[in-house]
Amino acid sequence: MPAPPKNINKKNNVLFLSSYSYEEYKETADWLLANTDIRPKVAIICGSGLGGLADLLDNKNVFPYNKIPRFPHSTVQGHKGQLVFGELNGKQCVCMQGRFHFYEGYNVATVTYPVRVFFLLGIETLIVTNAAGGLNSKFKVGDIMLIRDHINMPGFAGQNPLCGRNEERFGVRFPCMSDAYDRELAQLARKTAQELGCDSFLQEGVYCMLAGPSYETIAECRALQLLGADAVGMSTVPEVVIARHCGMRVFGLSLITNKVVTDYDSRERANHEEVLETTRMRTEVLQKIVSNLVTNM
Ligand code: HPA
Repeated sequence: MPAPPKNINKKNNVLFLSSYSYEEYKETADWLLANTDIRPKVAIICGSGLGGLADLLDNKNVFPYNKIPRFPHSTVQGHKGQLVFGELNGKQCVCMQGRFHFYEGYNVATVTYPVRVFFLLGIETLIVTNAAGGLNSKFKVGDIMLIRDHINMPGFAGQNPLCGRNEERFGVRFPCMSDAYDRELAQLARKTAQELGCDSFLQEGVYCMLAGPSYETIAECRALQLLGADAVGMSTVPEVVIARHCGMRVFGLSLITNKVVTDYDSRERANHEEVLETTRMRTEVLQKIVSNLVTNM
């Protein structure tokens, strides 16, 4: 008989989707706890080209992903691939400089592996940032969107990171997602943005995750608009689902790096260069909002 595929475990003649054991996450967390004295309560996942935030930390302890036991590695351009512990304006935090994307070929359990490690490190608040295409016609390139809610499109298609056996030590079988994004933190971020004088390009809305890596067709963009999405991207949602499952508070920001194309007469074409260019333009402001938010928390 041929061997079962590697991502399938066979137990009692029943096939299960593969996931990690509690002990695996624990091994990674224990290794990190033994290798740094920093005990952060806040973790920040830096999106494409937004990893500069980690460089601002003081008293850093840096761990390349490939040096951390059981940690996945990153492959995408513009992603550094290291975990940076340190202090942001005196507040201890840990930054993921480079995240794992479903489109890179990782399954959703691997994409979210770091979040459960964060939970075991004692993280209480997860901050997520990403680059996204603007679906809302009021949004401009360079706007920053507070994520109010999300649409888990891969989840619609069976790619929810909570599929499989539930590990009660992380959370309940059927977690609530109607309160995924913390309202108090969003309010604090609005105030922080105001203080920084960037409320003129601060937006708020619904982030929709697609698997990628192809950008959306015109028909897809129109469908997402009808569904109530304001921005579209290829990340973040699996991490948020896992963070909420284990009771972390979540705050998210999307940088609107491009406007999606919804018109068949348009000559615009979504491309990675534009995404990176807008990111470079706004990266400092985004870093400021996040770092001031962390200080004010
Ligand atoms: N679509 C999907 N993901 C993205 C986009 C987009 O237009 N821009 C940045 N990430």
